[in-house]
Amino acid sequence: MQFSSLLGALALASCGVVAQNVTYCPSGNVCYAVNVPATTASSGSGDIYFQITGPSTLSWIGLGQGTSMTGANIFMIYANSAGDNVTLSPRLGSGNRQPESDTTTDVTLLGGSGISNGVMTANVRCSNCNTWTGGSMSLTDTNSNWIWAYKTGSVISSDDVSANLAQHSNYGETTFNLQNAGGGSSSNPFLATTAMSTSSGNNSGSSSSGSSSVGGDSMPADYANVRMAHAILAPIAFVLFFPIGAMAIRLLSFPGLVWVHAGWMTFTYIIVLSSMGMGVWMAVVSKQLDQYHSIIGLVVVGCLLLQPISGFTHHLLYKREGRPNAATYPHIFWGRAVITLGIINGGLGLQLSGNTVKGEIAYGVVAAVMWLLWMIVIVLAFIRSRNKPEGETGEAVFEKPNDSTERMRISQSVHQQDSPLRLSFSGDNIGLAPKPTYG
Ligand code: HEM
Ligand SMILES: *[C@@H]1O[C@H](CO)[C@@H](O)[C@H](O)[C@H]1NC(C)=O
Ligand SMILES: *[C@@H]1O[C@H](CO)[C@@H](O)[C@H](O)[C@H]1NC(C)=O
Ligand SMILES: *[C@@H]1O[C@H](CO)[C@@H](O)[C@H](O)[C@H]1NC(C)=O
Repeated sequence: MQFSSLLGALALASCGVVAQNVTYCPSGNVCYAVNVPATTASSGSGDIYFQITGPSTLSWIGLGQGTSMTGANIFMIYANSAGDNVTLSPRLGSGNRQPESDTTTDVTLLGGSGISNGVMTANVRCSNCNTWTGGSMSLTDTNSNWIWAYKTGSVISSDDVSANLAQHSNYGETTFNLQNAGGGSSSNPFLATTAMSTSSGNNSGSSSSGSSSVGGDSMPADYANVRMAHAILAPIAFVLFFPIGAMAIRLLSFPGLVWVHAGWMTFTYIIVLSSMGMGVWMAVVSKQLDQYHSIIGLVVVGCLLLQPISGFTHHLLYKREGRPNAATYPHIFWGRAVITLGIINGGLGLQLSGNTVKGEIAYGVVAAVMWLLWMIVIVLAFIRSRNKPEGETGEAVFEKPNDSTERMRISQSVHQQDSPLRLSFSGDNIGLAPKPTYG
């Protein structure tokens, strides 16, 4: 690492294009860099350069000069209609609404801009960014104010500089010390780093990992495949398999049902674990571990670990005591809550990956239908269990203890001691859990 960055510095120095710049990468792999050439710094006006980079799955990325949207000199980039380059749209902020296209800003999209390896890059020269309608910026300010924002969601694909853009999903402010951004006389300071990292990727001759792209971050070639696998496996587990396993134990009744449930749910949990592995890998590679989807995902998978434990404990105690026990309701309600959170988190994941609105709606509909079905099954099973006369639900019906003496003991205990207890259980039934009947 040390050695390669040394080589990089040497290569830059020998080309005589050492780009002095200030950079800021807020989140989501979005980065901004600003360069103020020496002549501009000394005269106070002239060309400045900036670079905007981020995942090409984003709807748009913006950078603005100013402290808030109102009166800010804003630059937005989004995929062009051909999908191989970005459209640079200079705009003027006028309050907390979509900034309006501003043709008085003298900006040029430079070489090195484009969309490749899943990254969109805009290398920009601005020739009059020291003043704009309603604002100004000292190009030597040690504490210059900038705002940034980007939007996840569908790709814009437009060449129109006044394309209609929806509100940001992430935004914030930052300051740049433009004294540190000063230097150089390149007519495209960010092209140097682009060209260098591209050629070093080319020289390495390795096809397993994509060549490093602009801004220093690169997406491994397998990223898209891993994301696809993650986005298929996790929803199948949370939206289909978990609810099916939960409904099965509510709806069906046959000997050994509990083991079908246990096996099915454990198998599904293994699917979840593997898709979590992929998720963690992606989050590390693309620095998205701080996103809600990543955090909630880890919490959900961690919380689910209690299920096999509480399930087994319920089962063991049930065999011994023949009635709901300390592990029963935790297993049922924790399971329902955590699986529901997992289903919701799938939607957050789709947002994070900048999926199409259609995709998000499709997921939402299927997830909502499955979840409602599950809740209906719970309510129906609850009603059915309440309508049955006390004592007839016969806890051990579906899973009788193997040995007959134990069965005796259980049915005795059920009839002799437990009836009052059971009554009180079903009397103030906890939520919508039917009297648990399987063990
Ligand atoms: C990751 C693993 C598991 C998950 C996510 C899970 C989840 C659930 C959920 C959500 C319910 C409530 C069904 C409803 O909505 O009404 C449930 C019920 C149940 N689970 Fe599991 N479970 C898992 C593993 C196990 C294991 C390993 C066992 C036993 C060996 C087990 C035994 C039971 C039993 C007996 C019930 C019914 C409780 C009753 O109503 O009496 N589960 N499980
Ligand atoms: C900013 O300049 C440094 C050298 O001063 C360089 O290593 C880095 O790649 C530059 N960043 C960009 C985005 O060009
Ligand atoms: C994107 O457009 C700019 C400005 O026209 C150009 O210099 C650059 O080469 C283009 N990039 C690609 C990949 O075509
Ligand atoms: C490597 O660079 C050369 C010259 O710049 C180019 O013609 C060639 O297509 C590149 N190869 C790859 C694999 O990018």
